[in-house]
Amino acid sequence: MNITITGSLGHISKPLTEILVKAGHQVTVISSNADRAQEIKALGAIPAIGEITDVSFLTSAFKGADAVYTMVPPNFGAAEWKNWIAGIGQNYADAITAAGVTKVVNLSSIGAHLEDGTGPITGSHRVENILNALDGVAVKHLRAAFFYINFYANVDMIKHAGIIGSNFGADTNMVLVHPNDIAQAVAEELQSNFTGKSVRYVASDEKTAGEVARALGAAIGKPELPWVEFNDADNTAGAIGAGLPEEIATNYTEMGAAARTGILWEDYLVHKPVLGKIKLEDFAKEFAANF
Ligand SMILES: NC(=O)c1ccc[n+]([C@@H]2O[C@H](COP(=O)([O-])OP(=O)(O)OC[C@H]3O[C@@H](n4cnc5c(N)ncnc54)[C@H](OP(=O)(O)O)[C@@H]3O)[C@@H](O)[C@H]2O)c1
Repeated sequence: MNITITGSLGHISKPLTEILVKAGHQVTVISSNADRAQEIKALGAIPAIGEITDVSFLTSAFKGADAVYTMVPPNFGAAEWKNWIAGIGQNYADAITAAGVTKVVNLSSIGAHLEDGTGPITGSHRVENILNALDGVAVKHLRAAFFYINFYANVDMIKHAGIIGSNFGADTNMVLVHPNDIAQAVAEELQSNFTGKSVRYVASDEKTAGEVARALGAAIGKPELPWVEFNDADNTAGAIGAGLPEEIATNYTEMGAAARTGILWEDYLVHKPVLGKIKLEDFAKEFAANF
């Protein structure tokens, strides 16, 4: 198959490219960075260098593809983050139509069943709706759980304050996923013959936040590492203090509040998938190696 993927050689798109090339597909990888072209070629794929904000570039990169993988990368410079995410979704929809693509696997998020109140996931909800409006295009939304790698954002907190935490408590049930398990699921869907519009949840493990603290703490030689719950205002102030723009910090706090109340996970709990292979204990070893 001829497959175009967004997301450059990012956390999901790099292992995805490797799987698809190995399976014998012709893979085109979109990156905004010309310096990445050589690395993309070295993996056996074709670089398409340009911006996902540019619909005519996207259209040319999608042209001739039997299937496309769409994802919206983080953009900490966005003035209105939810709208920016939806705008990229609209760019994808316009390019899919202009290029005549009929099969799309779209990276979405756990919590994307909700219309609002979930921070950046509200943007994922809007992207799902935009792609669902495309006539004659099969779309599979992969609603990924909370990435394990998000915990790298807590490294400074662990090193300098000796704690890990967020605006939800240690007894909060979390649904976690490894990017490699997502890449595996995306590859499966790109190569399968689904029709219509549908959703698949992708998760690797289910643990409480306190269990996350214990597993990561044990792996880095701090077995007593406590999970600390902050109130929303302190959570936002802490994120701003750590260097995030207010818009992004506020959105993350909104997402954390949705985790605290449980609304983030409620639809997942009634549509549970078979869990992926990479468990919290496996990720804890990776975390310790990078700590
Ligand atoms: N974090 C979570 O818990 C979670 C949960 C569910 C879903 N998600 C979704 O997963 C996404 C992250 O996926 P990921 O970790 O695979 O992505 P990633 O590795 O953070 O980023 C993918 C790549 O996209 C490229 N990119 C950025 N801006 C671009 C632009 N303007 N034009 C073209 N390419 C651009 C960048 O590569 P180049 O520099 O080479 O262009 C970047 O490395 C989130 O944004 C969210 O939508 C996240």
